[in-house]
Amino acid sequence: MASKQNFGAVVITGASSGIGEASAIYLDKLGYQVFAGVRRDADGEQLRRKTSVRLTPLLLDVRDEASIIAAANTVSAALNTVGLAGLVNNAGIVVAGPLEFLPVAELRKQLEVNVIGQIAVTQAFLPLLRKAQGRVINIGSDNGKVSVPFLGPYCASKFAMEALTDALRMELQPWGIEVSIIEPGTVTTPIWDKSITLADDIWNKLPPQAHKLYSAAVDATRNTANKLGKNGFPAEVVALAVAHALTAKKPKTRYVVGLDAQINIWLAKILPDRLLDKLIIQYLGLPKNP
Ligand SMILES: NC(=O)c1ccc[n+]([C@@H]2O[C@H](COP(=O)([O-])OP(=O)(O)OC[C@H]3O[C@@H](n4cnc5c(N)ncnc54)[C@H](OP(=O)(O)O)[C@@H]3O)[C@@H](O)[C@H]2O)c1
Repeated sequence: MASKQNFGAVVITGASSGIGEASAIYLDKLGYQVFAGVRRDADGEQLRRKTSVRLTPLLLDVRDEASIIAAANTVSAALNTVGLAGLVNNAGIVVAGPLEFLPVAELRKQLEVNVIGQIAVTQAFLPLLRKAQGRVINIGSDNGKVSVPFLGPYCASKFAMEALTDALRMELQPWGIEVSIIEPGTVTTPIWDKSITLADDIWNKLPPQAHKLYSAAVDATRNTANKLGKNGFPAEVVALAVAHALTAKKPKTRYVVGLDAQINIWLAKILPDRLLDKLIIQYLGLPKNP
């Protein structure tokens, strides 16, 4: 078990499950005062049962500006004059579907949660981060480097986080505020089941023409996602990278977590586009002639 020291305070968004929850538990064990972002009181209570009394659930919906401001005020009041050692922008959803038919509102939702929300939260907590020369840790994905069919909205959101992380890192450099991005591969968390449910909801509302054109490909992608989600690595592995980014004297700018992510990102770097396309299409088992 990790040794306990007082590392200061950290805010984690989306701590009700998966990587956010694992990070909250691990950072609490390390000795951080964790403010764990959740959207329901019950989720906060459940998390409290797994941690020390230091952990405080924080109601925070990254799509809701009033909720973000209220959360920042709550943390500011609790910390009094002390600043924030870290902000972990982890909250995320997966919107999937064929781009030809995907309702634009769904694309908007994807970008609002995974991109706009992260920056809105960062803006709200930066005054507190400045006080303690705290750090920002964004949870990206290997899909921020490799885009795949039917996951276009999600990949776009993670590519955007790569760009925003780089810009923010350079902008905040004068004040010694470090900004890192974590790029995990496949992690077994509830996001896989949630994303399949959401994708099915979207899919069922698409017009017959969409079904005629994309049924076989979408079915194949769903099957692959189902298998992948059950065979990922545990969220605790990502929590270790989050802790490194928070505590290391010189944190890495990027943390590629998992062999799958390392291979995917490396292949995307070295292969010509059309060869990479071919590999991805084969891997997903997409039909050649739908
Ligand atoms: N699992 C993977 O394979 C994987 C790989 C690479 C990157 N990631 C990234 O890791 C992050 C965490 O995902 P996860 O796999 O741990 O999935 P997860 O278990 O589904 O966790 C997602 C978290 O985000 C929260 N969330 C969703 N919408 C929100 C909103 N509007 N405001 C605030 N919180 C919101 C969820 O809260 P509710 O319970 O209230 O919905 C939940 O706590 C995401 O950014 C994801 O893209 C995951």
